[in-house]
Amino acid sequence: MNTAQNLPDLPRITPGTSPGEIFRIGSQAVNGSTALACSFSIDDVVLIDLLREHLDQIRVFAIDTGRLNEETYETAESVAARYGMKIDWYFPAGEAVERLEREKGLFSFRESLENRKECCFIRKVEPLQRALRGAASWITGMRREQSDTRANLEPLEIDTVNGNLLKINPLAFWSTKQVLDYARKHRLPVNRLHQQGYTSIGCAPCTRAVPDGDHPRSGRWWWENAEHRECGLHRRYQRGVRCEV
Ligand code: ADX
Ligand code: SF4
Repeated sequence: MNTAQNLPDLPRITPGTSPGEIFRIGSQAVNGSTALACSFSIDDVVLIDLLREHLDQIRVFAIDTGRLNEETYETAESVAARYGMKIDWYFPAGEAVERLEREKGLFSFRESLENRKECCFIRKVEPLQRALRGAASWITGMRREQSDTRANLEPLEIDTVNGNLLKINPLAFWSTKQVLDYARKHRLPVNRLHQQGYTSIGCAPCTRAVPDGDHPRSGRWWWENAEHRECGLHRRYQRGVRCEV
């Protein structure tokens, strides 16, 4: 198994470096194609806009878990039209979903953490592995401010879980205010769920609006303990130790 100790050094990036510069440094650090993972949250739409001049070199993909909100599909169509771009959609393996739903029903994820992780694996993690095949790096809209589990997020990471790809997080240092201000100023197509109090966008049955002032990710898997609120798309290694979330 790879650990952080035997991985190459990455360029150091200081807080305050702009998203465009982080993308530039990241894309120069590796040879090969890059893919941007888009959930159609406000963060990801801002990210696409910030990188719009590079969209000819970036493959934008989205995972349709089969349980997304209508508002998310509408945002996807608006974004594709605005930037004249194609979105590479990935679906979970049909047989795996059929087996899950036949054996455990449609809401098994509410019954235990194990069942929830099983559903996230089938609907998100396995499609992600296919989406990243052949890429040298991938780009996400993750930010440090989003959660305690992301507080140490680096703008550039080696994704040891997905074959040592470079993971580029251009918004790592951006605050929520910066994201909101940018989207407003540039009149970006924002997922209507945000106006309804959603601070994070995920699958419909596992995401809800949060009261003002509550933690931004408290509407995700709200029935679980806060430290479990990751779906497995972003399992990380730090100093050689896997952070299992
Ligand atoms: S999650 O792990 O809890 O689902 P979150 O919703 O915060 O992640 O999103 C973090 C980043 O993961 C997004 O900015 C995006 O890059 C990627 N991502 C999340 N969901 C999807 C999806 N359905 N399709 C593609 N990328 C996604
Ligand atoms: Fe399944 Fe919920 Fe995970 Fe979506 S977020 S894949 S519905 S457990």
